[in-house]
Amino acid sequence: MKRTSYISELREMLALERSRGRKIALIPTMGYLHQGHLALVERAKQTGAFVVLSIFINPLQFGPNEDYANYPRDVERDAHLVEAAGVDALFHPTSEEMYPSPMVTFVEVGQLDTVLCGAKRPGHFRGVVTVVCKLFHIVQPDFAFFGQKDYQQFLIIQRMVRDLNLPIEVCPVPIVREHDGLALSSRNIFLTSEQRQQALILSQSLNEAERLWRAGERSARVLERRLREQITRESQGVIDYAEVRNAQDLSEVTNIESPVVIALAVRFGSTRLIDNKVIGVEARV
Ligand code: PAF
Repeated sequence: MKRTSYISELREMLALERSRGRKIALIPTMGYLHQGHLALVERAKQTGAFVVLSIFINPLQFGPNEDYANYPRDVERDAHLVEAAGVDALFHPTSEEMYPSPMVTFVEVGQLDTVLCGAKRPGHFRGVVTVVCKLFHIVQPDFAFFGQKDYQQFLIIQRMVRDLNLPIEVCPVPIVREHDGLALSSRNIFLTSEQRQQALILSQSLNEAERLWRAGERSARVLERRLREQITRESQGVIDYAEVRNAQDLSEVTNIESPVVIALAVRFGSTRLIDNKVIGVEARV
């Protein structure tokens, strides 16, 4: 596996691969990798492309009181994991390499940013799409892979690619869960064993909401109320949001007639976890 922290070096490497007729696949990450990231690698490898995985903890997407300083980091461990998984190149730039001077140009997100995590974390998605747009320009991939745990992020990036005519296929990869249903996340290591046990309420309440929907419940408000009641009754998690929204554009839904995403953000101590489930026959993004 090739490895670099420099944009110029990465570009030279990729120009050579392109001249050999290889397509390029990009997996943007913030590191501290887990099986969810390795599922992205597996999907990327299936394209036959030269697979680049980037690790960059992007300061632009963290609010002033968020966990940028404490975000877990271990590039050497990550490098071993991705090399074993068959990644062709690891790109792990420093902040100085990505942001040599203070940014004055940003990608604005618009309407998709006004709900769910966008509403709770002002500026977060502006930081995400700005860095993803930079990575897209640096790597110029044919394919880019993102996990569906960050469902809103996926929709926003897909929309940016469409709005800005970027010639990139943005590919969603399903959520990877532990045996007991907990969605994999780099932040799970911050949970105490009691909080980890309580965090199972996310997948359990999503499953229960799906069960109610399968049993014929079509009111979004009823599902949201049931989610909130179950989470509050069965855990000490503090709900940031528990909402049912249109799966394509995150607009408000009253009666569930087309695919919806049930989206949760819940805090356990200082750790904020997100999870979601898409329901509806043609549930697809
Ligand atoms: O999902 C993440 O890890 C980050 O938001 C991303 C897409 C790598 C941008 O920093």
